Amino acid sequence: MTDHRQDRVLIFDTTLRDGEQSPGATMSHSEKLEIAALLDEMGVDIIEAGFPIASEGDFQAVSEIAQNAKNATICGLARANLGDIDRAWEAVKHAPQGRIHTFIGTSPLHRDITALDMDGMVARIHDTVAHARNLCDDVQWSPMDATRTEHDFLCRVVETAIKAGATTINIPDTVGYTYPRESAELIAMLLERVPGADAITFATHCHNDLGMATANALAAVEAGARQVECTINGLGERAGNTALEEVVMALRVRGDILPYATGIDTTKIMGLSRMVAAVSGFPVQFNKAVVGKNAFAHESGIHQDGMLKNKETFEIMRPEDIGLAATNLVMGKHSGRAALRAKLSELGYELGDNQLKDVFVRFKALADRKKEIYDDDLIALMAEASLADEDAYLQIRRLRVICGTDGPQEAELTLSIGGDEKFVDATGDGPVDATFNAVKMLHPHDARLELYQVHAVTEGTDAQATVTVRLALDGVVYSGQSSDTDTVVASAKAYVNALNRLVLHRNRGNLSALMSSAG
Ligand code: KIV
Ligand code: ZN
Repeated sequence: MTDHRQDRVLIFDTTLRDGEQSPGATMSHSEKLEIAALLDEMGVDIIEAGFPIASEGDFQAVSEIAQNAKNATICGLARANLGDIDRAWEAVKHAPQGRIHTFIGTSPLHRDITALDMDGMVARIHDTVAHARNLCDDVQWSPMDATRTEHDFLCRVVETAIKAGATTINIPDTVGYTYPRESAELIAMLLERVPGADAITFATHCHNDLGMATANALAAVEAGARQVECTINGLGERAGNTALEEVVMALRVRGDILPYATGIDTTKIMGLSRMVAAVSGFPVQFNKAVVGKNAFAHESGIHQDGMLKNKETFEIMRPEDIGLAATNLVMGKHSGRAALRAKLSELGYELGDNQLKDVFVRFKALADRKKEIYDDDLIALMAEASLADEDAYLQIRRLRVICGTDGPQEAELTLSIGGDEKFVDATGDGPVDATFNAVKMLHPHDARLELYQVHAVTEGTDAQATVTVRLALDGVVYSGQSSDTDTVVASAKAYVNALNRLVLHRNRGNLSALMSSAG
C-alpha cells in the first residue's frame, strides 16, 4: 500500500522569524501581515510568524497573523522555558491551526552557555515539551546546533521530546556547517535509532554559510525528512537560510529523482520575492537562483539562438512557472485600472480591490511625470507601495530643495516624528547632503552612512531613480530603498526608511542574544 505521507513535503516558511532576525531586516507590523497573507495564499503549510516573547510588537504581529490565517498553520517560537511557551501559545491560539515551536541548544557549546549538564538538559526538554503539548496539539521541538551535537545525546534528546509529546522534530544546522551526505545520514540515523521516530515528522532547517543550505535540505528529504524550513530569497542571519524558491523549484524540476510534492503555487514566487526584498531592504543578487534578475536572461549569442529555436535548450523552468511573464506592453497615462491589474498580474502581483485602488493612484501620479511606464517602473512602484507604512515613526510630509550654481544648497523639510510634525531648514554640499542634514537635525542619531547608491530604473531623463541607503550602528546595518522620478525625493525617502528600520530594531532588543540564551 502506498504511504501518501511519503510523497508530500511540508513547506515551513520562517521569513518572518529567522529571516527577520537578519540584522537590519526588521519589518514593520503591516509589512509582516502582508507577507503572511501572501505566504498563506501561496500554499505554505506552516508560517513561523515570529518570536512572541521578544517584544510586544512581535507578540501583536504573531497574534494578528494567527487570527487572519486561512489555510496555513501559524507557529510561534519559544525558548525552553514556561514563560516563553505560554506567550507563544497566547499568540497562536486563535489561529485555525496553531503550533508552538520550542528549542534549546544541545551541542556541547550550547550546553556550556545554558549551564546544563546532559541530565539537566534532558529534564528541561521533557518538562518544556510536555508543557507545550498540554497547551497545544501541534508541538515542534528543535535541538539547536543539532549537526554539532554528539549522536548518542541527539538520539536521547529527540526520544525525550517525542515521549513528551512533540509532533515535529526539527533538525537545525544552525551554523551552516553540514554537508549533503552528512545531512542525509543524520536524518537516517535518527529514524533508525530513535524509538517512536516513525510516528512524527522530521524537519530540516539549514543555514547557508557554506552555500549548501538547499543541497543539505534536499538530502535530508531524500533520507526521510518531510518538512523543509526555509525563507523567501534565503533571507536570514549571516549567509541566510535555505531559500524556499530553490527547494520548491528543485522538487518540481527534478521530480524524476525527488518524487515529492509541495502545496506551493509556484506562480506566486516572484511576487513574494520582490515584496520581501523591498520590505527587508535586502535586494536579491542579480544571479540568484530562480528569482535573480538574470535567472532567465539569455544574453549571449549562442544562448539566444538556441532559445529562439527551442526554449528547452537553455531553460529548465519557464519564467511563467514562477510568475514572471515576459511582455513588451508599455503602460502609460491612458492605461486604465483593468489594464494595470492585468499587467501587474503578469508580473506576479495579485492585488485585491483596495490595494489596486491605492496602486492605481500611484501609477497615475507616475504616469503624469513619465510618459512610458515599463515593467521595471511598475516593479519599483510596487516596492514603493509595499513600503508605505502609515504607522512608520518617521514620515516625510514635505520637502523643498533649492539648488543653484552659487550654493550652498538648501532643504526645507517637514517630518512627522512619532505623530508630531517638525520643520527645519538646512544647508549642505548639494541637494542630497542638505536633505540628509535636515533629517539628521530633526531626528539626531549616531548611525554612520555606509552606502548611498543611485541607479536609474529605466532609460531616459525622466527615468525613476532607485536609491539605496545603508546605515550602520553598533555593528548592525539598516538598509532603506525608495524610487521616484526625483532623485532627491527618492534619497530622502530611502534615508528615512533606513532610519525607521533602525528605530524598530532598537525598540525590540537584541534577538540573537535572546536566541543564544535559549534556556
Ligand atoms: O538555526 C536555528 O537553530 C534556529 C532554531 C531556533 C530552529 O533557527
Ligand atoms: Zn535558523
